[in-house]
Amino acid sequence: MAKKIVLAGGSGFLGENLADYLQHRNYDIVILSRQPEKVEKGIRYIQWDGRSISSWASELDGSHAVVNFTGKSVNCIYTKKNREEIVSSRIDSVHVLKEAIDRCSRPPQAFIQAGSLAIFGDTTLLCDEDSPHGSGFSVEVCQRWEEEFFKEKIPGTRQVLFRIGFALGRNGGAFEPLQKLASFNLGGTVGSGKQYISWLHVDDLNAMFLYAIESERFSGIYNATGPQPVTNKEFMKTLRAVMGKGWAPPTPSPFVWLGAYTLLRTEPSLALTGRNCVPSRIVEQGFEFSYTSLEDAFRDLLQPVSE
Ligand SMILES: NC(=O)c1ccc[n+]([C@@H]2O[C@H](COP(=O)([O-])OP(=O)(O)OC[C@H]3O[C@@H](n4cnc5c(N)ncnc54)[C@H](OP(=O)(O)O)[C@@H]3O)[C@@H](O)[C@H]2O)c1
Repeated sequence: MAKKIVLAGGSGFLGENLADYLQHRNYDIVILSRQPEKVEKGIRYIQWDGRSISSWASELDGSHAVVNFTGKSVNCIYTKKNREEIVSSRIDSVHVLKEAIDRCSRPPQAFIQAGSLAIFGDTTLLCDEDSPHGSGFSVEVCQRWEEEFFKEKIPGTRQVLFRIGFALGRNGGAFEPLQKLASFNLGGTVGSGKQYISWLHVDDLNAMFLYAIESERFSGIYNATGPQPVTNKEFMKTLRAVMGKGWAPPTPSPFVWLGAYTLLRTEPSLALTGRNCVPSRIVEQGFEFSYTSLEDAFRDLLQPVSE
């Protein structure tokens, strides 16, 4: 019988990518979503609210693993209301999933939580898993998220938290808008261009999730990012080169602030800050990346998809 994996908040960019990856490896996928229930492409979407126990909780009993992607997108203006929802959607979902696992007679062997490298704040210093945390709202969100996840140990279930980097994939995520900008000859350096982007190809992220699901050696916190972080300047230059675009005008910080608040309705810090992170623990455990070169990752993602 196919092993069942429950993806909480799995209807978004990372969840749907992982669902597809695991389905191709004969796993049975259930997605917990606030949307009406449906079956699509062999995936069962089960309704939940992300904060209270109801019939969805029985899906976890006898499942092989649970992966939690739930969280209001941080791609918004940080109003008081949005800040509250960014925090509560993450903390509440972790809490209720732990409660649901606790009630299982056959608990999943692994509970894997999507976290973020944003815990390191805005820094050009090289960060591995043991580096000091930064400061500010996004850092506090990550700290509270991790504290909730590790607050108490779940007997019989391995707990793994991936601090995810800038995941590059098709059909969503942050790569699509950057690619569009570059196609209009607007893919210039953003702000100072010195802020780091700790990127990884979504195929490598999916392979990391599969390792974490299946390998008993996986436990605790991992930087889920590629081995070669680059500055924003380098990132945009490489994207333009792969897309056959020449020089593009830089966007100085004041324009990023203005454009972010007025046109894009998002937080300028998302583009103006960054971190320089490496995946030390996962490499020590023998993980091999398919994409270590940014150029190769872009070339792959820009290829037309064969049906
Ligand atoms: N994408 C990246 O590169 C990246 C990098 C670092 C960290 N992460 C973290 O990884 C997680 C998944 O990322 P993603 O890119 O897949 O995000 P996403 O596309 O925004 O998907 C998140 C899912 O969470 C659910 N959700 C949103 N607001 C919610 C709320 N208030 N209450 C309950 N559920 C809610 C939504 O599902 P329904 O609407 O179906 O309920 C949504 O599909 C997020 O926590 C994100 O912060 C992502």
